[in-house]
Amino acid sequence: MKIDVMSHTSQFLDDDLVKKYSSRKSEVFQSLDCAHMNGWLNPDVSVVDEILKIRDKVLSHSKCLVVIGIGGSYLGSQAFYQMFTPYFKEQDFKIIFAGTTLSSSYMRELLDYLETVDFSVNVISKSGTTMEISLTYSAIKEVMEKKYKKEELLDRIIITTDPVKGNLRREVEEVGYSSFEIPDNIGGRYSLLTPAHLFPLSFCLDIKELISGYFEGLKYKDEAFSYAVCRRSLFDQGKVVESFVAYENNWYYYLEWLKQLFGETEGKSGVGVLPVSMIHTRDLHSLGQFIQEGNKIVFETFFKIKNMPNCNVCGDDLHQTNLLVEDSVISAHVSGGVPCVEIELEKLTPKFMGEISSFFLLVAAYSGYLFNIDPFNQPGVEVYKTEVRSRLEK
Ligand code: PA5
Repeated sequence: MKIDVMSHTSQFLDDDLVKKYSSRKSEVFQSLDCAHMNGWLNPDVSVVDEILKIRDKVLSHSKCLVVIGIGGSYLGSQAFYQMFTPYFKEQDFKIIFAGTTLSSSYMRELLDYLETVDFSVNVISKSGTTMEISLTYSAIKEVMEKKYKKEELLDRIIITTDPVKGNLRREVEEVGYSSFEIPDNIGGRYSLLTPAHLFPLSFCLDIKELISGYFEGLKYKDEAFSYAVCRRSLFDQGKVVESFVAYENNWYYYLEWLKQLFGETEGKSGVGVLPVSMIHTRDLHSLGQFIQEGNKIVFETFFKIKNMPNCNVCGDDLHQTNLLVEDSVISAHVSGGVPCVEIELEKLTPKFMGEISSFFLLVAAYSGYLFNIDPFNQPGVEVYKTEVRSRLEK
């Protein structure tokens, strides 16, 4: 992984701000080292064999796994599933992601579909109290209870939740479903290397590769801090929006993962860089106009992949054309007053994606500390939940 924070940002950055935030390095590192919720810096992955065992059991009787989760506890799974599943080739086994909507038409169609297929369910909720998850799980369990015998459900319902607390853990203890634990000191959006993500991902990629990349990525502490300083300084200079830009269509959910990570980590106490995302070249023909000539509140982070499968079109390797366009866009945007960070991956593999992802976890945590907020809570999310509860009780 090559991280180029400075080449296309230094001409925009205020040196005094960079100095000011850089000088906080040891304080920021210490804050993270002492944080209660820093379990993701050294996650216990000894559960991998158990994950693979339960995956094999699911594969032996199911054609589909319904992953019920929302927010940081599940988005990494949807991101990597999209990235590492072929665009068009029919799959013998598929993952359906549910729990992110209260749309009745989606739910109706999902329940009708599940009547027709052999499936298992992985319910993921650290708190065990998230409304969307509880409703979706109840609806799907009703279908399962009609369709399968009680003892079959023991093999088809897998619950991932807090080790001791919550309704879901109670259900595991009472009924005996298979279960995984999300450690107390790892929050949803930092849970990539817990079973919340590793179990669903074991169906679509080599999780051992992902794990080894993840531990590599944690070594990029200095680079992550420089990037956090750059973001923090640009924010003070009025660049309050970061656009994550990819040149591969199957990065859509990965960019959603980044938005979730930074949005919930930083957006507190009236501060935070607003994360947005774009897939090029599609979005060059929409928001590209705004970026080039509109309000100068945006900086961009471009993802570049050095090697992709070869596809010759009109005598040229299409990927080289894609990269040429990417470099041209960076030059054009820089000339239009937009600072650009570049992150290059050698190729698109679970190992490299593990590496880049843990790097981003570091960037998010460091950025939070540079904004003087707690990177690991999300008190604002509670406000809508309280409002919903009070209306439901009326
Ligand atoms: O990143 C986070 O911590 C949140 O987005 C949570 O993952 C999300 O709110 C779901 O919470 P839970 O896993 O408790 O159902």
